Amino acid sequence: MASRTESLPLIVVTSELPGDALSLLDGRARARVRKARGARSEEDMARALRGAQGAVTLLSDPVSEAVLDACPGLKVVSNVAVGVDNINLAACAERGVIVAHTPDVLTEACADLTWALLLGAARRIVEGDRFVRAGKFKGWRVDLLLGADLRGKTLGIVGMGRIGQAVARRAAPFGLRVAYTQRTRLAPSRESALGARFAPLDELLCTSDVVSLHCALTAETRHLLDRDRLALLRSGPLLINTGRGALVDEGALVEALRSGRLFAAGLDVYEREPALAPGLKDLPNVILLPHIGSASRETREEMARMAVADCLAVIEGRTPEHAVSLGVRSEE
Ligand code: DGY
Repeated sequence: MASRTESLPLIVVTSELPGDALSLLDGRARARVRKARGARSEEDMARALRGAQGAVTLLSDPVSEAVLDACPGLKVVSNVAVGVDNINLAACAERGVIVAHTPDVLTEACADLTWALLLGAARRIVEGDRFVRAGKFKGWRVDLLLGADLRGKTLGIVGMGRIGQAVARRAAPFGLRVAYTQRTRLAPSRESALGARFAPLDELLCTSDVVSLHCALTAETRHLLDRDRLALLRSGPLLINTGRGALVDEGALVEALRSGRLFAAGLDVYEREPALAPGLKDLPNVILLPHIGSASRETREEMARMAVADCLAVIEGRTPEHAVSLGVRSEE
């Protein structure tokens, strides 16, 4: 006879999670936690999720049609991330699979990291650190590692959602003007609260000194900054990307950095993560981080807790608090 635990619904958690999120499942669901780290293929995912009713996934886990077809009992995919570009939302909806994510909780952490990259790229912080460690610091020089001032310049934000707005709110103390672009313009009262001016994308690129990317990655926004758009940037600007790597054509970005058209870039995300475009890591004027936008302990523990709680909610027949899509089949 099956033990009580074996009769509980199965939730597959594709990675060990920070904090005690899994204790939420005690006596309510069985957790199968994947220990191995690193990117997964669709085949891995299909194997890992077999037999599960719920999945707690990472942004590096592909949840494709093939994965969903291999797991017909799956009711919910709960991503430990706000972005859900790793999940085929249409395929989930067709199969009645609910998708949940972790908005809001990571907004401030991601905005802080964006500013860390912005300041680091403007003032050549990482280059300076390497310089000192390499024993090259032989005394103060008036022309050593000259960076760029921010005061009086324009920060152009592409995607003025929660994170874009949190980045904008940090701009005033540094004396930056804020312009933004996105599909739907904010209400005038919101624009004035943020001190932000709307501009169409091409105009924003031509008029900004710092461009920071915060829009979701979709079929429409893939390579939003292609070679032609990068050429619109005014000479000597900074580009910060803590959104998604494929928003930018990374090959064209390498050329723009190499030629000096872009003064510097700060990147937390990559087009073919974790691979880097050829030449990127050899450039001195780019800071490269390993996708740690939301990686403060408090934030990641809360993200894990939210994702597990929403997964459990669906398994227990409740509506998840942070649904991206409720998985309604089109024929229903
Ligand atoms: C997200 O949640 O989408 C972020 O990229 C995590 O850092």
